[in-house]
Amino acid sequence: MAPTPRTRVKVGEREVILTRMPAPPADARSCLAEVLEVERVGDDGVILSVRPELPMLDVRASRFFMLRHEDGRSPAIPRPFSLYRQRGTELEFLIKVMGRGSQALAASRTGEKLRLIGPLGNGWPTLDGDGPMWVMLAGGVGSAPFYLAIEQALKGMDGKKRCKKDQIAYLFGAAREGLLYDIDAFRSLGVKVFTATDDGSDGMKGNVIQLLESLWAKGTLPRECRLLACGPERMLEAAERLAHEKHLECWLSLETLMGCGVGICNGCPVPTRPDGPIGKWPNAKCCVEGPVFSTREIALAHY
Ligand SMILES: Cc1cc2nc3c(=O)[nH]c(=O)nc-3n(C[C@H](O)[C@H](O)[C@H](O)COP(=O)(O)OP(=O)(O)OC[C@H]3O[C@@H](n4cnc5c(N)ncnc54)[C@H](O)[C@@H]3O)c2cc1C
Ligand code: FES
Repeated sequence: MAPTPRTRVKVGEREVILTRMPAPPADARSCLAEVLEVERVGDDGVILSVRPELPMLDVRASRFFMLRHEDGRSPAIPRPFSLYRQRGTELEFLIKVMGRGSQALAASRTGEKLRLIGPLGNGWPTLDGDGPMWVMLAGGVGSAPFYLAIEQALKGMDGKKRCKKDQIAYLFGAAREGLLYDIDAFRSLGVKVFTATDDGSDGMKGNVIQLLESLWAKGTLPRECRLLACGPERMLEAAERLAHEKHLECWLSLETLMGCGVGICNGCPVPTRPDGPIGKWPNAKCCVEGPVFSTREIALAHY
């Protein structure tokens, strides 16, 4: 999805920036979805499988849906979740149980209906097999938008050359082994998988950025690569900094707090780079202009 167009016009002596209101995607819809299964995963997560009442075409990885129960169990404001997997008419979400919204979803019972709004946002860029390797950096539940991304890259996207399995590396970091959600499912995709944990309980002891640097240093992964990252804010800031230092293409999928999810409430500002393609406007709206941004567009880290 292209950044929202911004035009500069002169009003008397002043320069004014006009922007078209970012709008929700044309394919977004609001509908009920039937809960099929809630499967426990890792120390504090669930995979929630639902079947929406309206059919969904193939959804690009790293797009998201707003979810809530309408019977008073959920907060009034729905919560955003990336699509984890799509299996025909079924959608799956990988949810870390945090507060009231995620608790209510995790406590869903088979056959119940919940409200689903989406698909929203832009999704990862086209993951083609023509350029340098794709290196995916996931932190904790930031793994959610990567399963589908790997599946779509291996299948081929937008008529581009599909990726071979050895053109994708998936680096998964978490505080401990129990937070490497569904790691065996990622391993079964056949791409290169590496892990890091803060306590050393699985893979390298350290974080996912240190893992990447160590794989570069050992020559296990090429230094020329394209980065995708999703995880806690500090991890994304580190990925952004690394991409700038090493002059690498890099896209970040942000998990900002959200209100409406459709561009109305201004609850999801993301600081933009004054010299980047979005321009001098200080903030983009994560829900409609993201959640995926190139590091050429935004400035999370303060240099
Ligand atoms: C585009 C997008 C995609 C997302 N995809 C997923 C996903 O696939 N799986 C998943 O588990 N989560 C995902 N999230 C995060 C998820 O939306 C939040 O964890 C959720 O809103 C928490 O709601 P809650 O009511 O359970 O917790 P709340 O009661 O709202 O919050 C509980 C605690 O978590 C903190 N918190 C809430 N949201 C965030 C956040 N985004 N970042 C950091 N801290 C937060 C709060 O400050 C509070 O301390 C995504 C967020 C966005 C914007
Ligand atoms: S969440 Fe309301 S404008 Fe983005």
